[in-house]
Amino acid sequence: MKFRDDFVWGAATSSYQIEGAQYEGGKGLHLWDEYVKEKGKVFENQRGDVSCDHYHLFREDVKLMKELGLKAYRFSVDWTRIMPEGKGMVNEEGVAFYNALIDELVANDIEPYLTLFHWELPMELYKRGGWMNPKMPEWFAQYAAVIADRFSDRVKNFFTVNEPQCFVGLSFSEGVHAPWLQLPDRETILMSHNALKAHGRAVQELRAHAKQPLVVGYAPTSGIALPATDKPEDIEAARQAYFGIPQEGTWAWNTAWWSDPVIFGKYPEEFLVHFEKDLPKITDDDMKLISEPIDIYGQNIYLGYPVCMGEDGKPELLSRNTGYAKSASNWPMTPEALYWGPKFLYDRYKKPIFITENGLACHDWIHLDGKVHDPSRIDFTARYLGALKRAAQEADIRGYFAWSLMDNFEWAEGFGQRYGLVFVDFKTQKRIPKDSAYWYRDVIRTNGENL
Ligand code: NOJ
Repeated sequence: MKFRDDFVWGAATSSYQIEGAQYEGGKGLHLWDEYVKEKGKVFENQRGDVSCDHYHLFREDVKLMKELGLKAYRFSVDWTRIMPEGKGMVNEEGVAFYNALIDELVANDIEPYLTLFHWELPMELYKRGGWMNPKMPEWFAQYAAVIADRFSDRVKNFFTVNEPQCFVGLSFSEGVHAPWLQLPDRETILMSHNALKAHGRAVQELRAHAKQPLVVGYAPTSGIALPATDKPEDIEAARQAYFGIPQEGTWAWNTAWWSDPVIFGKYPEEFLVHFEKDLPKITDDDMKLISEPIDIYGQNIYLGYPVCMGEDGKPELLSRNTGYAKSASNWPMTPEALYWGPKFLYDRYKKPIFITENGLACHDWIHLDGKVHDPSRIDFTARYLGALKRAAQEADIRGYFAWSLMDNFEWAEGFGQRYGLVFVDFKTQKRIPKDSAYWYRDVIRTNGENL
């Protein structure tokens, strides 16, 4: 078993989670800047105003990436740094920051993978209804055009949006992310339709303004349904559960709803029937736009849930074993998710797959010897990558981005959860590569032969 020779080994971050400098460089305000101020929503009322101060320390961070042997770096651009009001005026200082970051990556032979939207919805657009506004796809298209105009001479690889399940579902259905709202399905389903159209328009504009042939993808997420046994009926049950209407949580955790339209140009029939009374107007032109062809399919994968075929011939969710292994964020450790996830996705969508995020929150600290020992993260990643290696024999898997390059602002969990390969002391901004960072360097060096 092996990974392809040109396998892309990388690490990922996102703008608000690491940049800091939220009130500098001509940047506009976004949803998180504003709603993070609401008391009692984020762990210890923390905010991303400074975070890892990557805006000022990016050169040091790229140097670390080089030392760790990363071949690729997935980062996101903050829409409000480029267009403070979300449309119209372009902020040259913001462009200059990302230009400098990209130049630094290229000079160090690290391939940039740029995500356009990792949740910084400009406040000026939010005030106009945000994702509810039918103009959102056009506003996003304007932004995508600027991104391609300014960066695609050096950046070849793009992801449009990150985890629409979260920026629609967690933010507007479950109310656990800014702006902490619980809206009816009718409204969030409309948002999802507009977000998918925005994705399609971005694909078009990226290509129209590209300075070289681009590789364009999409980066949704999901928990993975895991067959309880290798019996064909359990595998089938897991597949059905994975692409079906979620049995737990809100509608937004439906994989097929977010991905079938992008790849097939159709929403899943089952969903259209089930949510009929909550659907917006959906036209053939919308579906054509949403399915504007992409080159690669990204998926963020962290965990799975066990499923078997029930006696009624329908998928049945099983409870986990008592005392199951879990992370500092209480997420279960389920390495098989990196086998079944890519496999199910590849079987259905037949697109080259990138794991755009995967990683573990641990309770890390600096040990007496001055180092950060994180054996659990090494064990976790070894197991997950082992499963991915197995999947790579059966599906077209092109790359893996560890989440995250460094500890950062974990949304509602503030700085209370550490996902980094590199430890960040948020007081001094000192970076210390954890043991897992050096271990990952060896994985990269051997192209996963050491797994
Ligand atoms: C996925 C999100 O894209 C990222 O922003 C977040 O930090 C990680 N999951 C961990 O929760």
